[in-house]
Amino acid sequence: MRRTLAIAVVIAAGTGPGVVPSTAQTPATAPSATQAATSTSGSIEKGRTTFARTGCAQCHGREAQGSPTTGPRLGPGAIPYAAFSRYVRAPRQQMPPYTDRVLPDTDLADIYAFVQSRPKPTTPRLLQP
Ligand code: HEC
Repeated sequence: MRRTLAIAVVIAAGTGPGVVPSTAQTPATAPSATQAATSTSGSIEKGRTTFARTGCAQCHGREAQGSPTTGPRLGPGAIPYAAFSRYVRAPRQQMPPYTDRVLPDTDLADIYAFVQSRPKPTTPRLLQP
């Protein structure tokens, strides 16, 4: 029991300080009318900021490149937006959920645009078999 608790604490600490404040800092205002009107497809630049601010970057890396220990690469070639959104709202494994209060759909669309715009990874020659 004590052991389980210690592990839980380590995992929670591993998510870093950004995650906790971001859940508390629910955007005070809805996106402005102009923003909402233009965001049929997401904004890459806004997505970059939101990806970092919301804490996604802490597990998935600043460029959504992923890490072997904290979270997989997300893009380019991400899963379709519907599945992406479904996962973020209700993850099935270790990832914490993000409701639309914490992360509105418009922000998630921006994140998706950012993730999809990442360059393809190159395979370092020295590591090829
Ligand atoms: C605490 C670490 C953590 C944070 C923060 C986090 N993720 Fe994840 N994410 C994971 C892990 C680990 C997985 C692999 C599946 C699992 O364990 O839930 C994952 C899986 C995903 C998947 C599914 C990928 C696939 O191909 O199936 C998506 C999409 C995703 N994350 C998006 C996001 C977005 C967007 C954010 C920010 C709003 C975010 N994640 C924040 C750890 C995190």
